Amino acid sequence: MTARPGLFISFEGGEGSGKSTQIRLLEQWFRKRGDDVVITREPGGSPGAEEIRTLLLTGDPGRWDAVTEALLMFASRRDHVERTIRPALAQGRVVLCDRFADSSVAYQGYGHGLGPDYIRQLWQIAIGDFKPDLTLLFDLPIETGLDRARQRFGTVSAAEDRFERMGMEFHRRLQQGFRAIATAEPERCKMIDADGDIDVVTARVTDAVTLFLKSRGIPA
Ligand code: TYD
Repeated sequence: MTARPGLFISFEGGEGSGKSTQIRLLEQWFRKRGDDVVITREPGGSPGAEEIRTLLLTGDPGRWDAVTEALLMFASRRDHVERTIRPALAQGRVVLCDRFADSSVAYQGYGHGLGPDYIRQLWQIAIGDFKPDLTLLFDLPIETGLDRARQRFGTVSAAEDRFERMGMEFHRRLQQGFRAIATAEPERCKMIDADGDIDVVTARVTDAVTLFLKSRGIPA
């Protein structure tokens, strides 16, 4: 356990943005510094939230209407925050989370048209002011992201992934949403240009994290 308080960093972005790879690399970076790191993800990240994840990610694209989907996202998030994230932070650990509430703002708010204000109200109801200390937003041309996702799954329409079948217009709204989030909260949310080789993007990530640690007075 480290002496300083825990850190909560979320990774956000559209499909195929490379955030899962970068989370593993940042985990190693923190471990080399001697930090105790927890990797988690949304939807999911606690036993109850993982059960809700299965409901959310399997089945027909029209299985849930947009509001129900948003409520399920926040139900799973509440469980994840209370059972996994807060306890880890209380132990001084570094929590790296693959997606968090900004994904709901982008996907359900912008993508599915519920609007960012509606989602931010749900955010407040479910978890109050709780939010990441730092959010890294992986930004990539949409076609590049979808190509990468296709390579990963063989096809974009992989059986277990209804979110990847939602069409170009949806992905465009998503990208605009993530960019609007970064503009609205520039202190917390840092855009990472995710177009480039893995090590180039890793350097951008560690630069952003180093700057953040310095801004908090934490030795990098
Ligand atoms: P996942 O397989 O984890 O995708 P990825 O590797 O792209 O993160 O599935 C998560 C999907 O759920 C992803 O398409 C985004 C979507 N999602 C939302 O729509 N709202 C949310 O709040 C979250 C956390 C995820």
